[in-house]
This record gives sequence, C-alpha cells and structure tokens, in this order.
Amino acid sequence: MTEHVNLEQARKRSVNLEQARKRARELLSELRRGDPTTKLTTAQHQVARDLGFANWPVLVRAAESFVPATPETIDWRRITRVSTVCFRLDPELAAGALVALYRHDGRWVIPSDQRLPGEDVWDDSVLRIPLARMGFRRQGTHLLAIDPERRHAVFWIDGDPYRGSRPHRSDAEWWTGSPDEAVALLTDQGDGALARLVALADESRRTMSYDQLVADTRRTLVGAYLRAATPQGGSGFGGSADDWRDARGVLVDAVDTRRPVSSFLDLACANGHLAASMVDWAAERGVALTPYGVDIAPELVERARTLHPQWAEHFWAGDAVVWRHPDGVRFDLVHMLLDVVPMDRWAQLVDHLLAAVVAPGGRLLLSQYGPVRPAMAPDAVVTRLGRQVAGRCRPPQRKDRPAEAPSVWLVNE
Ligand SMILES: C[S@@+](CC[C@H](N)C(=O)[O-])C[C@H]1O[C@@H](n2cnc3c(N)ncnc32)[C@H](O)[C@@H]1O
Repeated sequence: MTEHVNLEQARKRSVNLEQARKRARELLSELRRGDPTTKLTTAQHQVARDLGFANWPVLVRAAESFVPATPETIDWRRITRVSTVCFRLDPELAAGALVALYRHDGRWVIPSDQRLPGEDVWDDSVLRIPLARMGFRRQGTHLLAIDPERRHAVFWIDGDPYRGSRPHRSDAEWWTGSPDEAVALLTDQGDGALARLVALADESRRTMSYDQLVADTRRTLVGAYLRAATPQGGSGFGGSADDWRDARGVLVDAVDTRRPVSSFLDLACANGHLAASMVDWAAERGVALTPYGVDIAPELVERARTLHPQWAEHFWAGDAVVWRHPDGVRFDLVHMLLDVVPMDRWAQLVDHLLAAVVAPGGRLLLSQYGPVRPAMAPDAVVTRLGRQVAGRCRPPQRKDRPAEAPSVWLVNE
C-alpha cells in the first residue's frame, strides 16, 4: 500500500505537475481498457495517492509555483485560470493595506477559478472571480505572476466588499489582516506556495512604479468604459440613470449659487458624462456651468469629444496630478475622484490643484466612488492633509444601499 505523507513532507517533495498530469492521462487510458466509464478524476486521485498526496487538489497546490510576470509578456489567449490576491487599502495602517482571504473547505484561500469562454481575462475574469467567490469588488488591477505553463495568471487587486446588485457572493466568511499575518496564517495551514504568492503581491504593491500603476489603471478602465452600454457605464458607474442621479447628483451641492455663471472642470472625466450632467443639475439651481474635462486616457477624451461635440475643445488628455491648462486658465469648481490616484499622491495632487488649477476663491471638490472605509472618506483625507473642509455635499442615498460618505470641498483662499 502507498504510504501517505503529511502536507509538510509533501511540499518538500519536488512534484512536477506536468509529469503528474501526463501520468494521470496514461493511467486513464489503462483504466478505461477495463472500464470505459472511468473518469479522469479517478486516475488523478490514484496518481496523487501514488505520489504520497491525500488527493489531486493537494498535489496541485503543493506543485504550483509562479514567476513574476508583466502584461506585455503574456499570451492572454492561453490563460485558462485566474487567481487574485485581494487588498483593502488603508492609509492609517503602517502596512498600508490589509489582505482579504475567505474560507473554503476549511482553509483560508484567495479567489481562484477557471476563465469562462469568451471572457477577457483583465476586464471580465478578474472582476467576476473575486465577486463570485467572496463578494470582493476589485478596483485597481495588477498582473503579478504566472505559472510555468503560462496558463494560470495571478493578479493583485485592491478593492472593498461589494454591496451592489451585480451577481456576487454575500455570505463568504472573510479573514482580513496585515500582509505579514496573512503569510504566517497561510504558511501555518500548509499553503506555502500561496503564502509566497501573497508575500510577492505585497512586495509588488509596495514597490510598483507610478508609471506602471497608471498603465494598469488605463488597461483596467478604458476597454470596459468604451464598451459600456450606457453613458454612466462609460464613466465607470454600475447602475441605472436614476442611480447615477442619486449617487453623483449630490455633487451639485458644491456649485456656488452666488455665481450665476461658472466653469466646472472634471478631472478624471472619462467620457465626460459627469461634466455634462453637472451642467443640467446646476441649471436646475439657476447656475450656468461651462463644462471641461481632463482624463489620462486619450481614448476616453476622444469619446468625450465625440459625445459632446459642442464642447469638443473643452476636453484634454492629461494626468490630474500634474495637468494645467495650456494657457493657465483656472476653474471655479474643480472635481477630482480621489480613488483613481494612489493615496501616497493625494497631498501632491491637492497642492497642485490649489496652486495651478482652481481659480482663486474657487472650490476643489473631492469625491470617492461607492462605499469606502472611514479612513478613505474625503472628509478624513482632507483632515489628514491638514486642510480645512469648507463644505459637504449631501451623502449619496442609493436604493437598497447603505449611505455613503459625503463628498467635500475646499476653498482656494
Ligand atoms: C470612474 S471614472 C470617473 C468619472 C467621473 N469623473 C466621476 O467622478 O463620476 C475614472 C476615470 O479616471 C481616469 N484616470 C485615472 N487616473 C487618472 C489620472 N491620474 N489623471 C486623470 N485621469 C485619471 C480614468 O481613465 C477613468 O476614465
């Protein structure tokens, strides 16, 4: 009888997954000569036992190894499996982020699943898998590693628990803790390969260059926005036109109604839908707004120009952290969606916008999309930067959702 070894011993054993798979296919052929209905899983189980593992999944886990990868080097058509290391960013923590795991079959794991037919890995699989497995909504998406067969791609993502109406799992048991704690937990439960992956993800998160981050943001957002079926979808918003009004319509509270004619600049404007919507919402309050927009993705700026030809000259491509109008024009109300810029650049962003983009006496409006942790709410961000909140919009109130943190504005004294 085959002697079974425990997982720790098994991990020390060098397992070649490709050879094990080949052996399972060969064994399947042999077994089918006796019983044509034999399933592949039966052969895999036997191979795993022969190699000293409790079962096939344990063998696969022990054999998996990954190497760091960059998007340019991947043949995306070959990818059949996707896994995600999930982080919740938190500027108040020394580590800067928490790792989120969920319980599956008595173990703490990261979301992992097969790619479905027709799915784009980056746009679809990385969004679906953490939602479906543990109810985690990705925001930032970054390729981390690939297995030696180059079929299993691992990403690190940041995001939050999901509370919306897309298909998602709402009853998963979560564990969150610092990256070091996650590595210790996974090592203790015998998942050394997974522990190494989490450590690699944390290192990548801490050391990623700004240029890489910007490139990943574009890759994550642009395709999905350009394909969206609604104007608000083309601005990255998941919900109906009414939801859009409920969620983003409150930003009009920041319009200074003492100025009947004002300029409005939306930084990170995507397809220009917020800029255009603000014109209508401000008109309801008797203010004539002239809209402008800047986005880092030239494709989206092009889309904004096409959708709003009357303002085609009002949209520019640029990075909100450094952009300034070519002729030095300043704007009465400037809106910035904080969550598209890494939190270690928020101070630079706010300093720059007040110094070079917001008109003297004008307002800088800061918002976040959807529910965020208290430390990430605009109020907390402004206070941490040592600046004064001059006013708050009403908190967005969306049907069947908890109230969200209010957007806030600063006055450029
Ligand atoms: C969710 S949309 C925002 C839509 C709209 N401004 C709003 O707040 O509802 C995010 C947009 O931010 C853009 N973006 C990301 N990083 C940026 C940066 N550093 N500067 C300018 N735009 C950026 C993306 O290309 C994307 O179109």
